Amino acid sequence: MNARARILITDEFAQEGIDILANKGGFDLEIRPALSEEELARGIAGFDGLIVRSTTKVTRNILEAASKLRLIGRAGIGMDNIDVEGATRRGVLLVNSPEGNVVSAAEHAFALIAASARNVAWADRLVRAGRWDRKILTGVELMGRTLGVVGLGRVGMTVARLGMAHGMRVIATDPYLAGERAAEAGITLVDLDALLRESDIVTLHVPLNERTKRLIGERQVAMMRSTARLVNTSRGGVVDEKALAAALRAKRLAGAALDVFEREPLGTSDLTEIDNVILTPHLGGVTEEAHKRIAVDIAEQFVAFFSHGRITSAVNAVATSDPRTAAFVDLSKVLGSFAAQLARGRVLRIALTCEGEIARAEIRALSVWALCGALRHFCTETLNPVNAEWIARERGIRTTEARSPE
Ligand code: 3PG
Repeated sequence: MNARARILITDEFAQEGIDILANKGGFDLEIRPALSEEELARGIAGFDGLIVRSTTKVTRNILEAASKLRLIGRAGIGMDNIDVEGATRRGVLLVNSPEGNVVSAAEHAFALIAASARNVAWADRLVRAGRWDRKILTGVELMGRTLGVVGLGRVGMTVARLGMAHGMRVIATDPYLAGERAAEAGITLVDLDALLRESDIVTLHVPLNERTKRLIGERQVAMMRSTARLVNTSRGGVVDEKALAAALRAKRLAGAALDVFEREPLGTSDLTEIDNVILTPHLGGVTEEAHKRIAVDIAEQFVAFFSHGRITSAVNAVATSDPRTAAFVDLSKVLGSFAAQLARGRVLRIALTCEGEIARAEIRALSVWALCGALRHFCTETLNPVNAEWIARERGIRTTEARSPE
């Protein structure tokens, strides 16, 4: 066990997690919040592990300076503050906590839905300003209205359930979810355009990537009903803030509630001048319960990785913690190495065939280990299961798996 692996924590992380890292992991811990990119790049070199939330940006510069780094823990879900491709190429494993703040994020989204429907934040501002103007604060009921959920992952599904519990009809769009599964949950799957046209409240629950960047732009906002509201607790870049602000000002939309922004902290923005928009500072995962759950989850994953090489919630590698495949890891590596040495000419494909009981397990991890064994005969890069597939792809080598449980 590498008892003195050095771990750096640069964002908020609950004491419960720190205790596990210190006592169970025996790590050498350093907690340094609010570092600039330059400061982090200067200080990262000696660390084996890094723990961040969404405030620290793990950029290419930082990864290039992180010569010893083996593991990054994202204490939360979203990975858009981390150069995932850069980390993968360098063989740095990324783990996150996919369950830790689901309930908190969903409850915050629903709090914003309810607050927007009843103009709670605006009403509060007026009362503080000495005004008692009930007419302009007239709200709408949620019961019987249509909630449109964009992205039916863990958070989206929880918001959908909260909507149903409030008597709402729920429709959703999600390219990865089968219609039958949605129907079982009482949700109708539709395409995004139909969702925008039909919903009284649209709530966003997608990660930020090339496909979702500005997913809600001028055209999409224009498709929404003038009585509808938009709630975004996913990522700022998913909504075109200028288009949204223009629609709110022109009363082409009844309201909006935003927890996430293209630039965070928000600073000066057109949005702060508009009455019918609620603004919160990325609070989705900010609860006592989520802080604790996430810190414990990430800390346990760090202990498992540095003590036993076990991975549970890997973002950029196939997990190797399936107990059924563990005994085959070394064998796969040796067979990959053996096959590569026997091969004449260029290796184009590495095919792994598993027969018998093992074929019922998750065998892709084994083919990655076989790749590690094979690639070390042609590569000078430091190889591990995180970057093996990447390096193979760059060299035009494919892997295939075949299985037969008999
Ligand atoms: C997430 O991606 O997990 C949430 O947006 C919460 O982000 P945070 O960890 O910065 O609070």
